[in-house]
Amino acid sequence: MVRRSAPAAKPNMPPEAVALLAWYDRARRRLPWRAEPGERADPYSVWLSEVMLQQTTVQAVKAYYQRFLALWPDVASLAAAPDEAVMAAWAGLGYYSRARNLLACARAVLREHGGVFPADEAALRALPGIGDYTAAAIAAIAFGRRAVVVDGNVERVISRYRAIETPLPGAKPAIRTATDGLTPDNRAGDFAQSMMDLGATICTPRKPACALCPLMEGCAARQQGIAEDLPAKAPKRARPRRVGTHFVVRDGAGRLLVRTRPAKGLLGGMLEVPGSDWAEAMPPVTPPMPARYQNMGIITHVFTHFALELTVLAGQAPLDTPAPKGMRWLEASDIEGAAFPTVMRKVLARAEINPR
Ligand code: ADE
Repeated sequence: MVRRSAPAAKPNMPPEAVALLAWYDRARRRLPWRAEPGERADPYSVWLSEVMLQQTTVQAVKAYYQRFLALWPDVASLAAAPDEAVMAAWAGLGYYSRARNLLACARAVLREHGGVFPADEAALRALPGIGDYTAAAIAAIAFGRRAVVVDGNVERVISRYRAIETPLPGAKPAIRTATDGLTPDNRAGDFAQSMMDLGATICTPRKPACALCPLMEGCAARQQGIAEDLPAKAPKRARPRRVGTHFVVRDGAGRLLVRTRPAKGLLGGMLEVPGSDWAEAMPPVTPPMPARYQNMGIITHVFTHFALELTVLAGQAPLDTPAPKGMRWLEASDIEGAAFPTVMRKVLARAEINPR
């Protein structure tokens, strides 16, 4: 008689992965880029969502993700899109080098991989804008490869589970090793997303809901009563402050005077209204054209490396005034869809222009 062995349920799967995957199957968040249970997500969707989710919250990304998919449903259409259209669709998401890399990556996938995303982590990492985290996430989520995926949520879950008290970023190697030890060979993508969901909904930065946690029993930080104190972070240096002045100039037809920022550097390639440099002390300011300017007050915007305070001056120019060198008039009807980053939207709003 042939003896059929009982189906080996989860060969060699760490018990933590078994518990997390069972929880994920019940409690997973429904997100627009996620495949249905048992299905594999489209690599383009996974890549697009993961690039958007770098440094940005799930809530903020959803609408942008859906707009991008509607405009460019696959990597070939995105690769063929004009740069300005992609920058305009990205406007408001921040960290604009991600949008430039997104386009460069789409074009590289077409040029170097025949329009098909590679499945291999190292090949993914060689593409523009794809670092260790994103390569691992795409390999695992889109291709079912075993990859060790560590984002901020995973860092929090794992540093607590193993009570790793070294402050970040020094704790990163230990967190990676511990994550590797828990990552299953199968369903690595679901496993990674289960940790992200756990970090977002239960193992939250403040007041984690330990009583609901599928990893409660083995959690070292909970046993020691230090869950809320982890991950430890090295003290932050104070953010420097910079100041500047920008001019919101409209003509008699409601057109707006704008210029494109240099391609390289902060907010590279994005649209702005003319203004001064941004410096520690107020830099010299020259109005773009003579007009009677009204002081609309100050707006503030916090970037990663500095906090910015901009004085907003609004002025009216006569119809048919030529735009100064390096600037142009943007039609009133084009203001809404233009590639203004968030800081510039604040400047415009202060001058009572509210695009989008
Ligand atoms: N954050 C980054 N990637 C994510 C994903 N795939 N699911 C949920 N949160 C995420």
